[in-house]
Amino acid sequence: MYLTKEQERMLSGEYGEVLERNFRLLVRLGEIYGADRMIPVGSVQVAGVSYKSIGDPGLEFLEDLADKGARVRVPTTLNPPGMDLEDWRELGFPRDFAEKQLRIIDAFRRMGVAMTATCTPYLVGNLPRFGEHLAWSESSAVSFANSVIGARTNREGGPSALAAALCGVTPNYGLHLDENRRPSVVIKVDAELRRESDFGALGYHVGKTIEKGVPYFYGIKDADVDQLKALGAAMAASGAIALYHVEGLTPEATLVTTGGLGTIEVGERELREAHEGLNTGREPDIAILGCPHASLAEIAELAGKLEGRRLRKPLWICTARATKRAAAEMGLVDKIERAGGKVVADTCAVVAPIERMGFKCTAVNSGKAANYLPGFCKQAVVFKSVDEILEMVT
Ligand code: F3S
Repeated sequence: MYLTKEQERMLSGEYGEVLERNFRLLVRLGEIYGADRMIPVGSVQVAGVSYKSIGDPGLEFLEDLADKGARVRVPTTLNPPGMDLEDWRELGFPRDFAEKQLRIIDAFRRMGVAMTATCTPYLVGNLPRFGEHLAWSESSAVSFANSVIGARTNREGGPSALAAALCGVTPNYGLHLDENRRPSVVIKVDAELRRESDFGALGYHVGKTIEKGVPYFYGIKDADVDQLKALGAAMAASGAIALYHVEGLTPEATLVTTGGLGTIEVGERELREAHEGLNTGREPDIAILGCPHASLAEIAELAGKLEGRRLRKPLWICTARATKRAAAEMGLVDKIERAGGKVVADTCAVVAPIERMGFKCTAVNSGKAANYLPGFCKQAVVFKSVDEILEMVT
């Protein structure tokens, strides 16, 4: 792989042990995947933030890096930690968990990472441009950046994203290259996508069916940004899908062709079966919405639906802290709290230790959350639309 003089100096340890170690990781990755060179990245999204996911080994690794003076070189945003960083006591998060989580956050802060604490960095200030190269590691954000924005990122692991943040570059392979962004399969949708959960069910079904590759969708007549984020998140959870195209909706759809590709048809029956397959529970103890993190528009819609209603069961709406602040300014947080709900910042259903907080059955409208909750959080899942969930908990 071609390296610049500066990069060779980095690799030889001239700029210290931290950069040498991290750059070596990137070089090794590049060699494995046949990269010709390193490319500068516009931003990094670091995952592997929840203490629940990375445990003590991850905490020690990050503290060691921060103690040795590691500093990010490019704008770097943070994925959700395992708790609301301000209201964790009031929400009932375990203290021992919180103490470790706060140390992880402190290590990232010392490295210069922006405390966005969200899987939707593109909604709170880390918005890439079309064609920009990135090193993002949150699978739903990777899917959104590649597909909806047309930026270019592989699905990085936590360590490789952090290495890219510290070195400012990533190896040039995979989805950074035109040839790997072409569709590999056509998905013909012949079903009405009426509710937001239909996009999650469609994504779950397609990810599970094709497992990898680049699907090209025909037949999705319309979808807003929130519906596309739900579709991509579910596909990236049930399969390793980091890029998709939708005819008439996503920016690279007109730049590629689908001639000669195999076609998979998805109709009402497949959608219904996906819904049924994701439902493993009946009576939720809690409803958790906002996976991926809720946008301001989604919070506004929920606040409207909750007006004049009283919740019988806990309801969390998970979002970025910046979005929560904007929602509070608009009076939306008050409306939701008046009904008995909570706008929970920073964390989410999957990375929070909800299984330690007494919850056994969780209602969600997200295909991604429904896919992960049984394994990651030992939850039975009620997977329904927002309207159906609100009927169950009010
Ligand atoms: Fe985000 Fe958590 Fe869902 S990180 S995409 S809200 S599982």
